[in-house]
Amino acid sequence: MKKLYIETLGCAMNVRDSEHIIAELTQKEDYQLTQNLKEADLIVINTCSVREKPVHKLFSEIGYFNKVKKPQAKIGVCGCTASHLGEEIIKKAPYVSFVLGARNVSKITQVIKKEKAVEVDIDYDESTYAFSEFRSSVYKAFINISIGCDKKCTFCIVPNTRGEEISIPPELIVQEAKKAAKSGAKEIFLLGQNVNNYGRRFSDGKRDIDFTDLLKMISEIEEVKRIRFTSPHPLHMDDRFLEEFASNPKICKSMHMPLQSGSSAILRRMKRGYTKEWFLDRAMKLRQMVPDVHISTDIIVGFPGESEEDFAHTLDVVQKVGFEQIFSFKYSPRPLTPAAEYKDQVDSEVASRRLTRLQELHMQMLDEMSQKKRGKIYEVYFEELKPGGYVAGRSDNNQIVKVKGSEELLGKLANVRIIKPGRLALEGELV
Ligand code: 5AD
Ligand code: SF4
Repeated sequence: MKKLYIETLGCAMNVRDSEHIIAELTQKEDYQLTQNLKEADLIVINTCSVREKPVHKLFSEIGYFNKVKKPQAKIGVCGCTASHLGEEIIKKAPYVSFVLGARNVSKITQVIKKEKAVEVDIDYDESTYAFSEFRSSVYKAFINISIGCDKKCTFCIVPNTRGEEISIPPELIVQEAKKAAKSGAKEIFLLGQNVNNYGRRFSDGKRDIDFTDLLKMISEIEEVKRIRFTSPHPLHMDDRFLEEFASNPKICKSMHMPLQSGSSAILRRMKRGYTKEWFLDRAMKLRQMVPDVHISTDIIVGFPGESEEDFAHTLDVVQKVGFEQIFSFKYSPRPLTPAAEYKDQVDSEVASRRLTRLQELHMQMLDEMSQKKRGKIYEVYFEELKPGGYVAGRSDNNQIVKVKGSEELLGKLANVRIIKPGRLALEGELV
């Protein structure tokens, strides 16, 4: 048996793509997973290109792999940076054996047999490909519901690395969910760049179905106890979707609402399709319908043309919504994107200072918010053993909660009262 070492950077889509790579290589080829780089016969790095930093990291990382690997071991570069840089990767790092773009994952069994293969077609349609099965967790199952993204936000490289959006046929998704749930995964995590745009286009004909319909279908599977999804787009959060989210007891009450900016002028330049008012209206409606909802967001600071006043609108939305989690980023100009060409780029130091101000404001808010959680009761799905005799899991509204306990709790849902609230994790006791 040959050994496969795989490293995954980036988002949940990449995590699932890596699971597909592992599945194909362990079931259709003669590979076995290893955590030890030095004994690997094949080293795969699944890359992200959404910001510049991970791209830099790629070349230092594969340089290191090349130094420590076994002499005959192959190195493959997969994922978004593979799509974006293609054969340039082999030119710059000639020891790389193949380059396999996101959306070409099903070709993994072919590229390992060729020398210097480059498969980076962003029009390649994998929406009906039946991948072999592999899941990193027995307790939850990631399932792709669409590939690609049609939004073309002006800062984002993803439409150039994952191509146009195609929905995966609902019967395939339901079949996969049933199989995973029957084998013990009580939680189904639906994945796509823009999940609530589901159903706009299928590669095998038209169907009359949207994301809300898909959520209903999955919740009818008896063994499925929890449904999560990422990422939805604020533009497509219509009332019907919010009502289903609020009323369906199997849908976990945490929503990712990527704001990007609180300024309507900047949102227009980003081509996000919504205004500050629309975003606030949706978030407030959500809080009103689901008082204990957990709202997380992505924010970019220092987008070209962002003034102090624009940034103040972002802080205003942060204050009004009270996000439980913020992923904040300094704008990073990306090749192939319109915003990289805008003439009014923001000075890097100004952007860094804004990022710090945003993060400081949020930390203060989190301290106040977390104190209010003392004494609250949440339903937790236990998934992981932690040092010190703890077992941890996520509450329905996506908070990490740990309690004293052992293996018997793994894979179980139980109610927990919070005794020690913290910014990132809460400690509780079973009730
Ligand atoms: N610069 C900074 N952050 C970006 N993101 C996407 N593109 C860029 C960029 N060019 C962020 C967005 C997105 C998250 C996944 O990454 O906030 O929601
Ligand atoms: Fe990028 Fe926008 Fe697509 Fe999200 S929706 S991946 S931000 S283009």
